[in-house]
Amino acid sequence: MHLLILGGTTEARRLAELLHGTPGLEVTSSLAGRVASPRLPPGGTRVGGFGGAEGLTAWLREHGADAVVDATHPFAGTISFHAARAAATARVPLLALRRPGWTPVEGDRWHEAGSLEEAARLLPALGRRVFLTTGRTGLAAFADLEQLWFLVRSVDAPEPPHPAAMEVLLDRGPFTLDGERGLLRRHRIDVVVTKDSGGAATAPKLAAAREAGVPVVVVRRPPVPTGVPVVPGPEDAAGWVLERLERQEGLERLERLERNPLAAD
Ligand SMILES: NC(=O)c1ccc[n+]([C@@H]2O[C@H](COP(=O)([O-])OP(=O)(O)OC[C@H]3O[C@@H](n4cnc5c(N)ncnc54)[C@H](OP(=O)(O)O)[C@@H]3O)[C@@H](O)[C@H]2O)c1
Repeated sequence: MHLLILGGTTEARRLAELLHGTPGLEVTSSLAGRVASPRLPPGGTRVGGFGGAEGLTAWLREHGADAVVDATHPFAGTISFHAARAAATARVPLLALRRPGWTPVEGDRWHEAGSLEEAARLLPALGRRVFLTTGRTGLAAFADLEQLWFLVRSVDAPEPPHPAAMEVLLDRGPFTLDGERGLLRRHRIDVVVTKDSGGAATAPKLAAAREAGVPVVVVRRPPVPTGVPVVPGPEDAAGWVLERLERQEGLERLERLERNPLAAD
């Protein structure tokens, strides 16, 4: 059985680790190639786009893929829709692995936004010194906010267009509560912007903002394509894969038996 994991997340890497070495299972993890030095998972890997849903369909057929787990980031909406279309066309089962989103707790001052553009529109009424943690792509949405100062944290350096008054902090999670408290204090941050990425690695900024009474603009997730089953964790996705592997092996055994009833194993 050949499994394609659409990756670029901690969960995708964990899933590849969980399945690595399973007899009868070949795993290929796919990365978009956005990060200069990605942490590669064990097993087979490929890097770069497929060329839209059609390219992904062709890849699934050429490589005899038997199943796909879309373990991309909750905000990687395009590849998820391509995966849904390609899997349906190539008749390959697809599962979405999505870590649960964050929910506010007492003391949080959250403002929900449907997009980065909406987040940018909310900002001037909320603060002057912004901790922007939405990643290096999409900074154009904030480029016109000339009265605001930005601390932008990203894995690789952002490219223009971006806000004029900005300091870049190159870093990748996991982050600690102490570290996030220090950042907010040192840079006198009075508003935070985040995607609702979910997960523990980047959640400490939310606790730090709560403690400091700082408002947080939370950008909502795009929807998972209709009809695609969703699981919350790598263990659940591994269970789905192993179940299919067992079923496929059972069917193959049955076929062998039908061809040659004397060769029962
Ligand atoms: N968006 C975020 O906030 C975020 C955060 C952390 C990590 N990531 C990871 O970074 C990658 C790119 O994110 P994005 O928001 O730019 O995605 P996106 O907007 O959904 O995808 C844009 C294009 O990138 C290619 N692509 C995306 N993920 C791919 C994968 N795993 N393997 C091969 N090609 C892929 C596809 O190109 P083709 O059409 O040519 O196939 C896709 O059409 C994703 O793998 C995601 O898991 C994203």
